[in-house]
Amino acid sequence: MAHKLWEKSTEVNKNIEKFTVGKDRELDLFLAKHDIMGSLAHTKMLAHINLLTNEEMEMIHRELIDIYAIAERGEFTIEDGVEDVHSQVELMLTRRLGDVGKKIHSGRSRNDQVLLDLKLFTREGIQKIAESVNHLFYALIEQSEKYKQVLMPGYTHLQIAMPSSFGLWFGAYAESLVDDLYFLQAAFKMCNRNPLGSAAGYGSSFPLDRMMTTELLGFDSLNYNVVYAQMGRGKLERNVSFAMATIAGTLAKLAYDACLYNSQNFNFVKLPDECTTGSSIMPHKKNPDVFELIRAKCNKIQGLPQQIMLIMNNLPSGYFRDLQIIKEVFVPAFNELLDCLDMTTYIIKEMKVNKDILKDDKYLLIFSVEEVNRLVLEGMPFRDAYKKVGLDIEAGKFTHSREVFHTHEGSIGNLCNNEIVKLGEKAFQSFNFDKIERSEKELLRR
Ligand code: ARG
Repeated sequence: MAHKLWEKSTEVNKNIEKFTVGKDRELDLFLAKHDIMGSLAHTKMLAHINLLTNEEMEMIHRELIDIYAIAERGEFTIEDGVEDVHSQVELMLTRRLGDVGKKIHSGRSRNDQVLLDLKLFTREGIQKIAESVNHLFYALIEQSEKYKQVLMPGYTHLQIAMPSSFGLWFGAYAESLVDDLYFLQAAFKMCNRNPLGSAAGYGSSFPLDRMMTTELLGFDSLNYNVVYAQMGRGKLERNVSFAMATIAGTLAKLAYDACLYNSQNFNFVKLPDECTTGSSIMPHKKNPDVFELIRAKCNKIQGLPQQIMLIMNNLPSGYFRDLQIIKEVFVPAFNELLDCLDMTTYIIKEMKVNKDILKDDKYLLIFSVEEVNRLVLEGMPFRDAYKKVGLDIEAGKFTHSREVFHTHEGSIGNLCNNEIVKLGEKAFQSFNFDKIERSEKELLRR
């Protein structure tokens, strides 16, 4: 038995049904909780403008909260013949409440419903990402502080360049995450505006109280123009995915460094044995597969904005079914990025560094700039000092004490981690997730 909200006298062709639904029912399961939350706010507002009696609203709320609990237990399903999550929730309510269940769709459309669901889903996803970024951030800062005084070779062009430190290396990725959070925050701001009440994209002649649903759902404000609210679909996913892509870019670079530095030829860091994988033929192998997979998964996430852009490319204003396909790439990307973040945090915490790496003779010349600087401090003009050291190197006469930290206060020893932590903390706090949690809890109150 088909349960199309829109079906009239002709039953839809089975192949057309299969094709138009595609993977949508599967992906809509990720939206179930959010769809119910939206209905809780919408029906409260309908009662406020007298399109539902308080009694009807309370009956609906009892059932919605019960359906929410089903979704939370992971037991919510979309039945065969039901098109999407929106239809399933309405069907469940109608089965439980009869005509009262049929009243909830007044003044809304699945177009603004799915928009709202995606915003609530994305808001929650951004919160989880920000929290995981936070954990990685502090793991990096901790390692940076721990290995503050340990020198490490710095490379340019993959050629030995200047002394760096493990403190700088770990700390660099922490600071990179701060910039990524600024991007994420911009995406969050865009996400945290209420589209509900825009209906099919042209509003409604009912006196919908859009401020009320904005408050109830803990949004910062609303998408005022109903045509723009609908235009925001696709734009939201694209912009949030840009923010996800910048985090993924940081992780992919870190993963590549880790693979390189863990190889025997570099030998800067060591991954714990339990984090490496073996070979079926070469008994000695301890491969950094985890970082290789993080690199590839994060490179894939960096392609997400382009994928979304191509799906929505040149769509005029107004709703189109094309937009449904964005869910296929957008929704799974959250768990993929979260997995990569959590796995990176785990291994970073376990990573050991080679404290003696610069004692290797091949790094002697890495101190050439230090020697030039020493001569400059003695009063020799920089260019003359540079020339002298260059000639000494050519003549095989170059020596250096390998002391860097103790000779002067340069950028190698001066990590500025305190400043980076201040920036990080400020960025994390700016999201104000508490307000959202409070309003969602309030809506779910029996
Ligand atoms: N599954 C649809 C989507 O993701 C829901 C909205 C359907 N609206 C419509 N007019 N067909 O876009």
